[in-house]
Amino acid sequence: MDDVITVTNLCKSYAVGVTRSMVLRDVSFSVKRGECLFLVGHSGSGKTTLLSILGCVLSADSGAVEMLGERVTEFSPAEQASFRRHRIGFVFQRYHLFEALNALENVKVPLDLLGAEPAKARRRALELLARVDLADKARRRVTQLSMGQRQRVAIARALAADPDIVLADEPTASLDKTAGWNALETLKTLCREEGKTAIVVTHDDRILPLADRVLTLADGGLMEEPGGDEPPSSAPVKLKSPRRKSIAEGEAGES
Ligand SMILES: Nc1ncnc2c1ncn2[C@@H]1O[C@H](COP(=O)(O)OP(=O)(O)OP(=O)(O)O)[C@@H](O)[C@H]1O
Ligand SMILES: [Mg+2]
Repeated sequence: MDDVITVTNLCKSYAVGVTRSMVLRDVSFSVKRGECLFLVGHSGSGKTTLLSILGCVLSADSGAVEMLGERVTEFSPAEQASFRRHRIGFVFQRYHLFEALNALENVKVPLDLLGAEPAKARRRALELLARVDLADKARRRVTQLSMGQRQRVAIARALAADPDIVLADEPTASLDKTAGWNALETLKTLCREEGKTAIVVTHDDRILPLADRVLTLADGGLMEEPGGDEPPSSAPVKLKSPRRKSIAEGEAGES
């Protein structure tokens, strides 16, 4: 078993006035190397919270997250920041690109931050731009690109520093159907070719066919959508709570 991410009994609550609101209750699952996992659920179900904990930008109340053999939930803030810079690439809904920079400069940012040799960084950024089909737009300011093109620049940037894990939060929410599909298909192809593991949070049913697996967050827990071989009418399998079975131990519907 080659699990890149293992989440065990993760709990997270937020303070609401004098009480606490529980968002994640004993969430357990694992993700295999090279998998493209989609995380869905209604607004407020905790998708961004879960992704933020995986991205080492938010801490959990209890439970453990192991990524690439490291127990990141026990890291110091400095160790988390280093792990984030080296091992994780992020894609956001609104791109978070630098508008004053061109596409090439944007893709190079993570490499510049890591002190990469300039010629090497430039080569890697150009190669990635070609692979997201934007070789001819490398020197365009991002404000002169379409929304779909901007998201493809953001995808190239997420892969630039060669992270092992890519986390995407609503990457198609600002795009129309075709641009959204193209961007996600590009992300998935790049991740497959480069051996990356991806978790994509989405509301967008139109891109679900691109998932290797779909997990649904609801009522603080996770349900796994049936795999492709299941009859279409079968309901998602609700994992038991509070002793929810880890999906890693289950049949983890491969598709
Ligand atoms: N900093 C915070 N303080 C208090 N409550 C918070 C905080 N951040 C999120 N929440 C609450 O936690 C719950 C989960 O929020 P989260 O952003 O993870 O949901 P989501 O599934 O990503 O929603 P959406 O699909 O709308 O982006 C929500 O009820 C939200 O109001
Ligand atoms: Mg969210």
